[in-house]
Amino acid sequence: MGKNRARVMLLPGDGVGPEVTAEVEAVLRQIADRGHWELSVVEGLIGGASIDRYGLPVTDATLASCRTADAVFKGPVGGPKWDHLRGEQRCEAGLLRLRKELDAFANLRPTAVRPSLASVSPLRPERLAEGVDLLIVRELTGCAYFGQPKGRFGDRAVDTMAYTVDEVRRLARVGFELARSRKRRVTSVDKANVLESSRLWRDVVTEVAAEYPDVQLEHQLVDSCAMLLISRPSLFDVIITGNLFGDILSDEAGVLVGSLGMLPSASLGSPGTPGLYEPVHGAAPDIAGQGKANPVGSLLSLALLLRYSLDHPDEAARLEAAIGSVLDDGIRTMDVAGSGDHVVSTAAFGQEVRRRLA
Ligand code: IPM
Ligand code: MG
Repeated sequence: MGKNRARVMLLPGDGVGPEVTAEVEAVLRQIADRGHWELSVVEGLIGGASIDRYGLPVTDATLASCRTADAVFKGPVGGPKWDHLRGEQRCEAGLLRLRKELDAFANLRPTAVRPSLASVSPLRPERLAEGVDLLIVRELTGCAYFGQPKGRFGDRAVDTMAYTVDEVRRLARVGFELARSRKRRVTSVDKANVLESSRLWRDVVTEVAAEYPDVQLEHQLVDSCAMLLISRPSLFDVIITGNLFGDILSDEAGVLVGSLGMLPSASLGSPGTPGLYEPVHGAAPDIAGQGKANPVGSLLSLALLLRYSLDHPDEAARLEAAIGSVLDDGIRTMDVAGSGDHVVSTAAFGQEVRRRLA
């Protein structure tokens, strides 16, 4: 049984963040009303919005509020206004701190190409013909993002790519578990021909694979994976990889669907901790406030929130189906519109999704 009392924290962020978050909130409220849930929505600041107000990309009070929520939805952060800031002052530092403090170590980034959207992809149709439906499971709280030492030391700058056995093991288990509800194939991506941390990664993943004899495991080097992801994307089911490689590969996966605006993400910690949900796209300051942003990545993130944090898989599936049907009917934001499609604003897209859910 899903939760019918839920506390959801919304962090709209910067740029197009407030526009896409407004659609998430409206859909969430509609679903909660219909199900007679007791929903409490709390809003907070992150990124540039928080810097402007408090001088910090995220405050302790906001983090505390996130920790007591059932789930956190976060919009993108950053923009030219804050680009001169360094290190801990930067917008991104707020996001990294949030991920770390929630211990949201498993970042799920699904990418599926709908047949009706295949023509929007820059890939040749024959490369998509076998279908693309893959899930990147990116480790999110380790690697060069957090490894110590880190910093400027005289004329040198250092980042440390490091992994422990436990960090790799818990991430790998998430990937293998999810593969069981999919095509039971895991591709583990590393750079074990060069990096020590990747050799540890490969050893631990191989060990974990023994717990899942029903799942097929393959190891791939990240450079070769980058090539195959774009040349033969249908080869993949679940990709498990480290923080930095996963960051890069997930943007590449965004190319397959034609727009980064389409991709959702869920970042999960241990059971009982709030999940963090974010679209994969950035703040896009060039189109902010114009109603041009694609809300699909955010609305699909809400579906993941319903599934993984509020335990409402049926509502999640209904929302995914509604979003899909709007897209299939050619009602789209400009980034994914083909000839003959009806181009709509962020808000009009959201409204159409709600109309179909009603
Ligand atoms: C992402 C983003 C972030 C990351 C940035 C904004 C810190 O690129 O979520 O993919 O590198 O993780
Ligand atoms: Mg990224």
